[in-house]
Amino acid sequence: MTATPVLPSYDGEQAALRRTFSHYPSGVVALIAEAEGLHSLVASTFTVGVSADPPLVSVAIQRTSTSWPTLRSAERIGVSVFAADQADLCRQLAGHDRARRFSDVPIRSTGTTARFIAGAALWFDCSLWNEVDAGDHTIALLEIRALGADHHTDPLVFHASAFRGLFTQRASHPAKP
Ligand SMILES: Cc1cc2nc3c(=O)[nH]c(=O)nc-3n(C[C@H](O)[C@H](O)[C@H](O)COP(=O)(O)O)c2cc1C
Repeated sequence: MTATPVLPSYDGEQAALRRTFSHYPSGVVALIAEAEGLHSLVASTFTVGVSADPPLVSVAIQRTSTSWPTLRSAERIGVSVFAADQADLCRQLAGHDRARRFSDVPIRSTGTTARFIAGAALWFDCSLWNEVDAGDHTIALLEIRALGADHHTDPLVFHASAFRGLFTQRASHPAKP
């Protein structure tokens, strides 16, 4: 028999909240745009399927982000979903040393202000559709203008503050009588 879980009331302790949030697995993206130089923001709060008509994805962005005010002003923002073998690239792009973020990163352009990472698993060329106030974050709703995927490339998975990969669950067949 499964025990009923005891759910302690949330007492405002943010460390516990963040620890619990961190156990929810997610993909990781880099938002990149050209706006008098390259600007990037790495995010694990990216969500697809927000809307099909219009085609929307979303990202929750910390109000303290210094890159978002520039990124949001770009006509198009590139979203690259990191591949499983791009954890080091992800760490580099999220680094505090902004001058080093793009060193040796294979950046690609498709002719808009959006920029993409070669070798990523998925790409979306987006324009900012709306922003919604969400406490200490702002939810950026991005409209998809172009998209692509490498269906042979697994995405990177962020879980419990670690980078992981996917694995396939084999169907378990009942034993034959
Ligand atoms: C794995 C990972 C996931 C992150 N997810 C988010 C996120 O969803 N939203 C966000 O605003 N910042 C996120 N960050 C932090 C930003 O990438 C960045 O470090 C922060 O915005 C400060 O940089 P900036 O001032 O250039 O924006 C994440 C960082 C890492 C390493």
